[in-house]
Amino acid sequence: MVVIPEINQHITTVKNLGSGLVAVFGTNSPSLPITIGGTSGIGLSTAREFTRYAAAPHVYLIGRNEAQASEFISELNTINESATVSFIKSDVSVLKNVDVACQEISKKESKVNLLFLSAGIFTTKGRTETSEGIDKKLSLHYYSRVRFIQNLLPHLSQAASSGGLARVISVLGPSTEGKLIEDDLDLRTHYSLTNAATHAVTMTSLSMIHLATANPTISFIHSAPGGVKTNLMRDFNPLAKGLVSGILALLTPVHSKIGIIPVKDSGERHVYAATHPAFAPREEHVETMGADGEKGSGAYRVHYDSSIVESKMDLIKDYLSKGTVKTVWDHTLEVINKATGN
Ligand SMILES: NC(=O)c1ccc[n+]([C@@H]2O[C@H](COP(=O)([O-])OP(=O)(O)OC[C@H]3O[C@@H](n4cnc5c(N)ncnc54)[C@H](OP(=O)(O)O)[C@@H]3O)[C@@H](O)[C@H]2O)c1
Repeated sequence: MVVIPEINQHITTVKNLGSGLVAVFGTNSPSLPITIGGTSGIGLSTAREFTRYAAAPHVYLIGRNEAQASEFISELNTINESATVSFIKSDVSVLKNVDVACQEISKKESKVNLLFLSAGIFTTKGRTETSEGIDKKLSLHYYSRVRFIQNLLPHLSQAASSGGLARVISVLGPSTEGKLIEDDLDLRTHYSLTNAATHAVTMTSLSMIHLATANPTISFIHSAPGGVKTNLMRDFNPLAKGLVSGILALLTPVHSKIGIIPVKDSGERHVYAATHPAFAPREEHVETMGADGEKGSGAYRVHYDSSIVESKMDLIKDYLSKGTVKTVWDHTLEVINKATGN
């Protein structure tokens, strides 16, 4: 565990990474405090803390709500007058929209230092297909995020080749990986909320190993945020929201012990993961996917307390030895190619 004073001490040094860092946040939600007392999402909190500490950063926020984004942009410009903040309006559950958003970024930037992926939904609905025939939850939590990475890899490589920071963070749930249904990875016939969660998380961890191995100058971080008070339950009915809110309030004295952390701490911890040398890309294979891991390269699974996730390493090793990383990657490309036409 890395304690908060250490996190805070480190993030004040982010300005030393140089002027003009480019960061893309695949989320913009200044969530309203209507659910469990949260005032913002993890992506928003990370964008805020990154903007606070970086020197003249270029920050891109991608999301659907323009009105809320413009309020947030004003806030970021107040926090750091040297920041350039842009908003791209997009429903990124549709992969073709991801392409358009990335094209917009490419027009202005040749390098990207940080790609932060946290767009997501918490829903009890079953399989709900996007116009491209992908389940919306699987798309937001996995395929769309891989498409962002794929599109912006040249920009991340460019940042790395000029000696700069080059990292991708996907916020989801390492430590909850599980058994994949390998002949139905996109869950056309085996859909359940549990399977959707397991597949998105497991495919993220495996794809990050593939990406880190193929791109050794870039770090790929799969983050488990813990329980963060955000607006993630916005689609739940008021009773369920009230119930969760009540339970969380009762648990307040033990929040830190059970992994429930304030959204500001989450933002700060994600800036730490995005910038600390502990999560730098590594040319040689090191044990970063877990204490007992192998072939980690620059792929990291990181806990809410900023330590490396150690659980489920046997499962990941098993998938590595069976060639499942390739199976998952080939499948991912097939789904993306079918949706985008290239
Ligand atoms: N909070 C937790 O305790 C927790 C725990 C474990 C894992 N996670 C994971 O962490 C990620 C971030 O969660 P969070 O708590 O920050 O949630 P959040 O506050 O609800 O933020 C999620 C973001 O996703 C965006 N989004 C949703 N659908 C979108 C779409 N179709 N197109 C573009 N943007 C979309 C939302 O923006 P708009 O609605 O404004 O478009 C919002 O900015 C999620 O994947 C979640 O599963 C969270």
